[in-house]
Amino acid sequence: MLSSALITLALALAASARPARFGRRAAFDLANGQAAIALNAQFQTLTADSPCTAPQDACVNQGFAHCAALPLVNSAGTSITCTTQADLDARIAATGATSGAAPPAAPSPPAVPPTAPPALTPTAPPATPSGVNNVGGGAANGTSSTGSDLQTSLTLDPSVICTNFTDNGQNPPSVGQTASSTSTNNYINFCALTLPGTPLTNGGQITTGSCNPTPIGLIPSVDNMPSAKFNFPKNGDTIDANVGFNITINVKNLQTGVFTNAVKTYFAAPQTLNAQGLIIGHSHVVIETLDSLDQITPTNPKNHLFFKGIDAPAVDGVMTVPVGAIGVPAGAYRMCTINSSSNHQPVIVPVAQHGSLDDCVYFTAK
Ligand SMILES: *[C@@H]1O[C@H](CO)[C@@H](O)[C@H](O)[C@H]1NC(C)=O
Ligand SMILES: *[C@@H]1O[C@H](CO)[C@@H](O)[C@H](O)[C@H]1NC(C)=O
Ligand SMILES: *[C@@H]1O[C@H](CO)[C@@H](O)[C@H](O)[C@H]1NC(C)=O
Ligand SMILES: *[C@@H]1O[C@H](CO)[C@@H](O)[C@H](O)[C@H]1NC(C)=O
Repeated sequence: MLSSALITLALALAASARPARFGRRAAFDLANGQAAIALNAQFQTLTADSPCTAPQDACVNQGFAHCAALPLVNSAGTSITCTTQADLDARIAATGATSGAAPPAAPSPPAVPPTAPPALTPTAPPATPSGVNNVGGGAANGTSSTGSDLQTSLTLDPSVICTNFTDNGQNPPSVGQTASSTSTNNYINFCALTLPGTPLTNGGQITTGSCNPTPIGLIPSVDNMPSAKFNFPKNGDTIDANVGFNITINVKNLQTGVFTNAVKTYFAAPQTLNAQGLIIGHSHVVIETLDSLDQITPTNPKNHLFFKGIDAPAVDGVMTVPVGAIGVPAGAYRMCTINSSSNHQPVIVPVAQHGSLDDCVYFTAK
């Protein structure tokens, strides 16, 4: 519960960080204020044991600081954040809403401005979960500027448009570098323009190829890029052929053990981070047979001797994968991890130059 609370909190900070705009009101201001009042009333009924459904969970634990629903200032909706009572009062007052007001309904005409716009008390910086770096760019969860739910709206919200996607990267041109394709709408309809007849991935593992429109999602900081090393067998080890063994892997910076239905939700949802800023996902291990340890011909990715998704979370940073009762036959092997987000996409990190996020070792069975 705590992690989802912190994530909600972090996302909400993006909205609260925007400059407040007191004075002229937009059509959605009153509705936003009323929505914030209704949510805060609801939070009064919650205890630490209340069922956890976002965004309520952000306000269950008052211990964070002072947890409250704020009316958004730049678009319709509310956001959950830590703030001072004075700041909360000022922001709600600026919308024209009062505690006696009806629950949120269709946006009403702006009410009369408050006589003296309250000064905005500087908000003490809330305790931001360290490592959560997804604060600041996108919209807070809530409703779009047109009033629809951001998570169900079929319209691209202006707050998430990457305006730099219009730059092909060649101004000035660099020798040998290819111009990027560009987009003014985040490629939302990219798959409509691909090869005729290409199906949407649509959650399936389509062996004949497909086009997947899911955004990449949350990307960790450089300090939170995952890393792993095989503990057993180690690189260069010789193990007993035809004897069961446990593969063990030391892993860091990956919240392991989280995987979704690989048949119905493959690549279907964006990568996500936990409250510590670590990618939420799982790992796999794959063993391929080689002609010899110094084989130089590429392997065939369609063939593998052993494959196992690691469904259980790491215990003390170690993942264990049993390899049957009879182990592997005599031979030379390459064994690699495939670290993935929950929906099975390979982990995605913030910089192009990074150490390998997966480990591969070569071993022999005799
Ligand atoms: C955003 O809101 C939608 C709809 O209420 C909800 O399903 C989703 O979990 C929320 N996302 C986050 C990150 O809180
Ligand atoms: C987007 O482009 C502007 C203008 O070139 C630049 O200042 C800014 O750093 C770019 N943003 C990112 C995230 O690179
Ligand atoms: C990838 O997963 C393997 C286990 O499958 C783990 O040992 C390794 O640490 C992970 N790598 C990263 C970068 O998380
Ligand atoms: C593999 O690990 C499991 C659980 O730790 C253990 O019960 C089992 O005996 C191990 N198998 C081998 C072959 O070491």
